[in-house]
Amino acid sequence: MSIERTRNFCIIAHIDHGKTTLSDRLLESTGTIAEREKQDQLLDSMDLERERGITIKAHPVAMRYRAKDGHDYRLNLLDTPGHVDFAYEVSRSLAACEGALLIVDAAQGVEAQTVANVHLALKQGLTIIPVINKIDLPNADLPTVKKQLEDILAIPADEAIAASAKAGIGIQDILEAVVARIPAPKAQDDTLRGLVFDSVFDGYRGVVSYIRVMSGSVIPGTAVKLMSTNKSYEIKEVGVFTPKMFQQKQLNAGDVGYFIANIKSTAEIKIGDTLTDARRPASEPLPGFQEVNPMVYSGIYPINTADFEHLKMAMGKLQLNDAAFVFQPESSVALGFGFRCGFLGLLHMEIIQERLRREYNMDIIATYPSVIYEVIRTNGERLEVDNPANLPDMSVIEEIREPVVKCFVMIPNENIGDMMQLMLDKRGTVEHTESLDSRRVMITATLPLNEILVDFHDKIKTLTRGYGSMDYEPAGYRASDLVKLEMLVNGEPVDAFSSIVHREKAEGRGRALAAKLKEVIPTQLYQVSIQAAIGGKIVARENVSAMRKNVTAKCYGGDITRKRKLLEKQKEGKKRMKAIGTVNIPQEAFIQVLRTS
Ligand code: GTP
Repeated sequence: MSIERTRNFCIIAHIDHGKTTLSDRLLESTGTIAEREKQDQLLDSMDLERERGITIKAHPVAMRYRAKDGHDYRLNLLDTPGHVDFAYEVSRSLAACEGALLIVDAAQGVEAQTVANVHLALKQGLTIIPVINKIDLPNADLPTVKKQLEDILAIPADEAIAASAKAGIGIQDILEAVVARIPAPKAQDDTLRGLVFDSVFDGYRGVVSYIRVMSGSVIPGTAVKLMSTNKSYEIKEVGVFTPKMFQQKQLNAGDVGYFIANIKSTAEIKIGDTLTDARRPASEPLPGFQEVNPMVYSGIYPINTADFEHLKMAMGKLQLNDAAFVFQPESSVALGFGFRCGFLGLLHMEIIQERLRREYNMDIIATYPSVIYEVIRTNGERLEVDNPANLPDMSVIEEIREPVVKCFVMIPNENIGDMMQLMLDKRGTVEHTESLDSRRVMITATLPLNEILVDFHDKIKTLTRGYGSMDYEPAGYRASDLVKLEMLVNGEPVDAFSSIVHREKAEGRGRALAAKLKEVIPTQLYQVSIQAAIGGKIVARENVSAMRKNVTAKCYGGDITRKRKLLEKQKEGKKRMKAIGTVNIPQEAFIQVLRTS
């Protein structure tokens, strides 16, 4: 297909506005897939994705479309993840396109991620085609959504296409708009420059990398190199996704497809890297390459220490497909040998933990998530601390700096008061409040990342009864009055329960944690003391009193089966416990502690 008849576009939307359903419809309507296969949504191929209804990996698909002008076009559709944790992947997919379909739910209207995504798309200079989806819903409100497009996003309302991905309305109009409004790709010369925007590990084929060829051609048998590492490889195969891998003789300027080279792991290939000819390389890489760095860290430990190697193998396999996930061995006094893991955000963390449990059957404990703190010692030395257990003694610390984010929250007018209170509780500073229309406002605020990690999003959803939405971007570091809060069980500090918190919140959190631990630590043969300490000073104390009764005492008479059952049950319970010194702490305690904020 010639470059003039190629269109590269992606779909951007707030979560649940119908991106996957629409992609699916476009594939059907262009005959790319014969009929709906069993799985409901085709582009979300990972099980977990399907379950959570979120798109994690961007999958490009090539479609052939005969337009009303009588010509055949190749339309390359790139799916993009909708969640804030994956904003970097979104911007990479956008960089590979000339245009974007912007989907807005006709009943929900413009949301925080709609705004964030439009900003990203405009920054890349993309042509935006607004699509108002779900017009089949009884509460669809086209006039309001059109007004929001103009007022909030400065997009002319008459450009919008009314559609229903579910009922198949407006699909043809969308395809025609893609052909008519999105410009064809242009190549500056014939030097190979390819943007690598993702890579996956395939058990049979090895590393498969997704590429948008900006100029030149990728041809099997030729030597290429990646500009960030300067490493050379030989191209083994190239092709496009239809949506299955479909081999081609070569990929040319304007094409979106895949290449397979002698690359061993996805860690070798960085998303956003530039592929060029090894013999006739481009002088400059494509703009905007930036390494993805984890923002959130947590320890992951096997419940059973014998599973350490197995866990390491499972993590290695997950990493093959997800270069943004990093891990390295660490040990904890309380939990033994495990791994310190880095994630893009909390959702990313949950997904990895869930996959370890489900796909690899691992019984694991995860510690409280932590951000990366910058610590300046009194001797001027600067260090990064991603694990509270590694925080040096306060006496040698000059200053602790924490990461902050700029947060955009959209909420109905009536929730402003509650939202301001929540921002205050989370140590946020409101920068400005902007009225979006007669019903909603957008609040822009700076907050410590640490404060929004665990439950901020849930709290917004609760206080707005689901109508609020948020997005955030990193906004550097700032000095803060932070302290280490330690929990002691029978006088022993349990490193897995340690956290770095703001001084003003430390005592309250210490008390809440002690009370929670008292609830979840089962009675033992002797009294167990639980203490919270800030810088060695005890601020809260609880006792779990000693066990008085034999568990089988209730089984009077000779009911041996009941007695056995009870003992079995107790044994089961023990399996899921972790011995801290002489005290057995159930897995549940670790989870409960994570939930106490
Ligand atoms: P993420 O991948 O999580 O970002 O979601 P998405 O934007 O891909 O949304 P998805 O396609 O999964 O749709 C979300 C929900 O909206 C699903 O329950 C769809 O069935 C429903 N939906 C999508 N399009 C329409 C539509 O045109 N009309 C109606 N009534 N429902 C729709």
